[in-house]
Amino acid sequence: MVTIEVVLGDITGQRVDVIVTAANESLLGGGGVDGAIHRAAGPRLAQAGAAIAPCDPGDAKVTAAFDLDPPVRHIIHTVGPVWEGGTYGEADVLAACYRRSLRLADEFGARTIAFPAIATGVYGFPAAQAARIAIDTIRSTATAVDIAYLVAFDQDTYDTLTTALHDQAQ
Ligand code: APR
Repeated sequence: MVTIEVVLGDITGQRVDVIVTAANESLLGGGGVDGAIHRAAGPRLAQAGAAIAPCDPGDAKVTAAFDLDPPVRHIIHTVGPVWEGGTYGEADVLAACYRRSLRLADEFGARTIAFPAIATGVYGFPAAQAARIAIDTIRSTATAVDIAYLVAFDQDTYDTLTTALHDQAQ
């Protein structure tokens, strides 16, 4: 059973086996958490991403972590849904991001993984609903991962994730 922990901080500083970036389909990097991870990992990350792009929304692809320090083994690139009001399957796509990322983490033998609040920034997914989807999906996905860290970059996101985790306590 995977343990879920909410942390406040920068995902590029997490000491885990794998970090997940909230990418776009080109895997070339962008702003937000994707920009931070690409800056930290260096230009080879975009080159590696381009070689395996495109990545469909809800899917996930893995690359090396290059210059990321503290060193993690891999970066998983997943593309969240752009929020369009909630009636276009956005929730299912977001759940798939977490599920597919865990499947890849298992393929690469990761025991710890760090997720950002996928799709809740530029893509506009409501944070509280996204938090519930993240926690429900991680809990319902069979995985060898021991600990999944949900990394909040700001206090509001931290509070939202913490509330969701407590409300959905097993
Ligand atoms: N560490 C952890 N979380 C971060 C960091 C960071 N260094 N920087 C930003 N975040 C948080 C944001 O505050 C937000 O809560 O990541 C969450 C996701 O926001 P975005 O990065 O905007 O991701 P998303 O909403 O999925 O939009 C993806 O934005 O950057 C582009 O290339 C990316 O096109 C893609 C789109």
